[in-house]
Amino acid sequence: MTCANIQPIVILISGSGSNMVALLDAAERHHWQERWRAQVVGVLSNRPDASGLAKAAARGVPTETLDHRTFETRDAFDQALIVRIDSMVPAQSRPPLVILAGFMRILTPAFVAHFEGRLLNIHPSLLPAFQGLHTHERAIEMGCRFAGATVHEVTAELDHGTILEQAVVPILPDDTPGTLAARVLTQEHRIYPRAVEGWLARHAAS
Ligand code: GRF
Repeated sequence: MTCANIQPIVILISGSGSNMVALLDAAERHHWQERWRAQVVGVLSNRPDASGLAKAAARGVPTETLDHRTFETRDAFDQALIVRIDSMVPAQSRPPLVILAGFMRILTPAFVAHFEGRLLNIHPSLLPAFQGLHTHERAIEMGCRFAGATVHEVTAELDHGTILEQAVVPILPDDTPGTLAARVLTQEHRIYPRAVEGWLARHAAS
């Protein structure tokens, strides 16, 4: 396969990378390369201590770190991030699909514009409810009976953008934010690969 044909994918993480692992598993099991010439060309973390980095490396995926704390401004970090992501993409290939998988950064409009239409995120709530942080705690406090996760296209506005997939889970009477997060996370691992496969089917060459 020549680089000119591939649909590169770059996954951004900040932590344990369990969604990233689910995506790498799906890429292999569901033959993304053969079906859509799609290839995860790199995993990048803004945190050097993200445990997901070792999981990616163990699977032979190139990893990089760009520590946001070494930049003075959000704009400067995002500009450097754009350059780094683009440098992970083989020359002459298509522009990358950038997948945010537990990437805990608010992105600047310039970053979002650079990857417009090629930027996906997963959020641990049923958007548009509970944008932002501490979603499980807030859902329990509000007395919600259901929680869930959403995969969406990324726009300049936080946790907005067209919804591609959602999954719903019950909130049980004795749930803590931790038990609820674990229940939601298993669903995240199911819907994120499905959303990416839908994106590839719509955008990538066969
Ligand atoms: C997930 O719940 C994701 O939705 C949220 O952070 C968590 C990341 O988990 N933004 P992991 O790093 O994929 O294990």
